[in-house]
Amino acid sequence: MEFSIKSVSPVLARTGCLVLGVHTGGELTRATRLADRAARGALHEALAQGDLSGKAGSTLLLRRVPGLAAERVLLVGLGERKDFAEPAYRDAMRGAANALKEIGAKDATLYLAEEKVAHRSAAWGVRHAVLAVSDAFYRFDQLKTQKKPPAPALGAVTLAVSAGPVTQQAQGALKEAVATAEGAALARTLGNLPSNICTPSYLAEEAKKLARHYKLKLEVLGRRDMVKLGMGALLSVTKGSHQPPKLIVLRYAGAAKSKKPVVLVGKGITFDTGGISLKSAGEMDEMKFDMSGAASVLGAMRALAGMKASVNVIALVPTCENMPGGGASKPGDVVTTLSGQTVEILNTDAEGRLILCDALTYAERFEPEVVIDVATLTGACVVALGHVATGLFANDQRLADEIREAGDDAWDRVWQMPLWDDYQEQLRSNFADMANIGGRPAGSVTAACFLSRFTKKLRWAHLDIAGTAWKSGREKGSTARPVPLLVRFVLRHAHVK
Ligand code: BES
Ligand code: MN
Ligand code: ZN
Repeated sequence: MEFSIKSVSPVLARTGCLVLGVHTGGELTRATRLADRAARGALHEALAQGDLSGKAGSTLLLRRVPGLAAERVLLVGLGERKDFAEPAYRDAMRGAANALKEIGAKDATLYLAEEKVAHRSAAWGVRHAVLAVSDAFYRFDQLKTQKKPPAPALGAVTLAVSAGPVTQQAQGALKEAVATAEGAALARTLGNLPSNICTPSYLAEEAKKLARHYKLKLEVLGRRDMVKLGMGALLSVTKGSHQPPKLIVLRYAGAAKSKKPVVLVGKGITFDTGGISLKSAGEMDEMKFDMSGAASVLGAMRALAGMKASVNVIALVPTCENMPGGGASKPGDVVTTLSGQTVEILNTDAEGRLILCDALTYAERFEPEVVIDVATLTGACVVALGHVATGLFANDQRLADEIREAGDDAWDRVWQMPLWDDYQEQLRSNFADMANIGGRPAGSVTAACFLSRFTKKLRWAHLDIAGTAWKSGREKGSTARPVPLLVRFVLRHAHVK
């Protein structure tokens, strides 16, 4: 999909589909009014028939409207004028995109991005337009031999501004959003791929492709390197698997060497059976998504490198399978982590924190500005926050605030959870420095508390995406969250905006 921004009149735009906004009660936007006048009231007439509710995201397709150069007109409901804020804008964009999938237009010109959204800039409008349309057009059918339905015809989308020159900010926002959408698509595809294809080695190969294409520095550590370093926690998780583990280190340097990097750590369990503490069979297939943290940091890297952002970022991906087997770790086993601290593995299904703790210790060597880990870490986080907010934990409140604001900006929202010392005692062990589980109460908090014991030297935040990284049921599939949040955070943090 090609995106562009143009200053063009809705009357003269030669396009497969002219997309125009209408508020509830038939109130037309500026562009819609202009088009209606040229069409001698044809749009107004169609609306008067009551065929468009005006609810945000509702649509009505008209063909052969006289007086307009466009082949079709798609009227899109924007909801009440006074309620025109973020949710209505997103719904309208999504509604328009879904309608565009169903028609034969090869290109479309959208006049929705020129509508002022309360408290949001024009750049924000452009970013969300691109992301909403890209999201709606994402397909994952590479494993189907018969592609049904056939791919939509739409190849180009123009975001129209009908007055004044196209600003540099709008062009910048477009470039950022197109790259973010590409990063999100990569994350989604990696998430959707099954574990027999998307193995730790496959993720390493994907990192190699990114490195080659965007000229990034790549290092991939294997089992022998991990043994030499003393990553006893990461190694304990991979023991039952026939797939070799990897630690991927991918670096993008877009700013001066003197600028300390942001390090993004992504949990890369390509399949989580639970190990000897075996999971039950129901929905176990969804544990192929347990590498969504890894996918999101690789997606964010692709986005930032693709837009040539002037930032320094390092992606760190510990990746392996969690399998039962004759060689697997067993409940009660004690391992020594890279930090030197010992852990009693009371439950082999609490494996994410075991691979992350060694990666977080490894992150210290990059002298990072901040470290953010992203992980499908706990079912308890899904119980706490459902599928709406990602769980946020941080040992630095300013960092937490920045992440929350970036999430609001990107409509990829987080909710902060406590990381108080009071919870730490739940991790007590009789046999090692700590246990890897803290019992049922506050399961997502004790998981974060476990990680906090390995990040004392870092400005660090943890995102638990167990409820937000994928959808279940009929719509089963990766969401690419939190790619938009990560990209926005890194840019805002570096004041690139
Ligand atoms: N990958 C899972 C977390 C998960 C479960 C995410 C379900 C999304 C949906 C993680 O490795 C895990 O198994 N966590 C355990 C921890 C428990 C043993 C302390 C959990 O949440 O049950
Ligand atoms: Mn698990
Ligand atoms: Zn897991």
